[in-house]
Amino acid sequence: MKVSIIGAGYVGLVTGVCLAETGHQAICVDVDKEKVGKINQAIPPIHEEGLAEFLRKNVPVRLKATTDLHQSVVETDITFIAVGTPFDGNQIDLSYVREASKQIGESLKDKQVFHLVVVKSTVVPGTTDGVVLPILEQTSGKKAGLDFGVSMNPEFLTEGQAMLDFMNPDRIILGGTDERSMNMLEQLYAAFEDTPKLRTNTRTAEMIKYASNAMLATQISFANEMANLCSALGGVDIVDVMRGVHLSHYLSPKTLDGKRIQAPISSFLESGCGFGGSCLPKDVKALIAHGEGVGCPMPLLRAVIETNERQPQQVMRLLRRHFDSLRNTRIAVLGLSFKPDTDDMRESPAIPIIRELLAQGANLKAFDPAANKEARKLFKDEKFVLSDTLEDALSNVDAVVLVTRWEHFRDIPQILEKVNSKALFVDGRRMLDKRSIARYEGIGL
Ligand code: NAD
Ligand code: UGA
Repeated sequence: MKVSIIGAGYVGLVTGVCLAETGHQAICVDVDKEKVGKINQAIPPIHEEGLAEFLRKNVPVRLKATTDLHQSVVETDITFIAVGTPFDGNQIDLSYVREASKQIGESLKDKQVFHLVVVKSTVVPGTTDGVVLPILEQTSGKKAGLDFGVSMNPEFLTEGQAMLDFMNPDRIILGGTDERSMNMLEQLYAAFEDTPKLRTNTRTAEMIKYASNAMLATQISFANEMANLCSALGGVDIVDVMRGVHLSHYLSPKTLDGKRIQAPISSFLESGCGFGGSCLPKDVKALIAHGEGVGCPMPLLRAVIETNERQPQQVMRLLRRHFDSLRNTRIAVLGLSFKPDTDDMRESPAIPIIRELLAQGANLKAFDPAANKEARKLFKDEKFVLSDTLEDALSNVDAVVLVTRWEHFRDIPQILEKVNSKALFVDGRRMLDKRSIARYEGIGL
């Protein structure tokens, strides 16, 4: 099938290149000329495992990129909307979705055949039917369900393993009501024959996405609140507590051959300095605003966000146990991306931690295996050194703060020993064994 995808960010580009990989013809559309140029040269505009290889295989035969939205819609059978849906401080910002819908609608005027528009962006329940569909009808002068179709198909990929997730989906949610559109969408995903496909209405599809992310965020804040209590109690380590909790058959059930397996949800019960990223924080906030907007109190999710926003302070608390003042204290912050295996720094807990350390006068270095370039852009006005290597970051410092669980950081105990460092180590993710470093502090310890 011929597919156009509006927005060539994490979701749009991964969708485009993976659909191309499964044999479709895909066009990624973006307003960002630099991104479009890179995709057409098969250069990944983002750090994502496997993306370079898929681009090399599919550009330009099955995948191309362009800034020409109109031509892309005219040339294809299906158009995905995969633009950003940020939180504007009060509610979800649908301006990009509105603009994309308007441009798609105008392009539909020039189409004589049935065309399917699919919302892939995460949007609050009611958006596809109440915002996208009316804009498409107004701007095209055509009738939804008759001249064109509208569906909602949320995306569940996680950054850092986006290609793997897209190519091995756990579920495909098909939201919509008109049979023709639903069949067309299901046909697009024919390559994923073993994946459960759930047909439902658009509002339910939208809500499934929010409920999924809100559940993950809730687990993380729960684990963090338990960790903070362990610290306050003394003599209890959250890592040991969670080891005991994880042994429950709910979290590590027995398979038929008697083996215990760890349920993947356990990886959302790891205490740390808080969740970040372009989705969990903004989606939970948007859901709270949307819920309260329809008169439904959302106290649990409010607490999830509050706990999360306070969590980076735990790192400061641990530092203050060892230094009366952080003025001129030499500190290395390790890990800047919001999670490992990505260069994405959106809402990374490293941001408030770095800002607070600078505000307290610390003499700062930072290092990330992938996000140094991103950090340089983000902190262009702040003064601190971005180290090129982990060894450099760990040399000549009084304290080290680990913020992101990069696998590279497993070598820290050996490196600290090699450089003969007596630095305090604050493990913001409880990643390393507390016995492997002489001066160790960790969240929930
Ligand atoms: P992103 O910011 O990486 O990409 C959005 C892209 O859309 C940008 O490149 C921007 O230039 C482009 N764009 C905006 N308006 C446009 C227009 N009118 N025409 C053409 N291009 C336009 O965003 P993302 O992380 O890919 O997220 C997109 C959506 O998917 C969001 O709703 C997000 O919540 C959801 N989502 C994201 C992830 C993730 O891991 N990043 C996972 C699941 C769902
Ligand atoms: C998340 C969801 O996991 C995806 O299913 C979803 O599709 C996506 O949001 C989305 O809608 O965009 P992502 O943001 O890429 O994916 O990353 P996660 O692996 O969920 O991690 C989010 C944050 O939570 C990271 O900052 C991570 O460090 C933190 N985290 C995770 C914890 O603090 N503790 C944990 O136990 C697990």
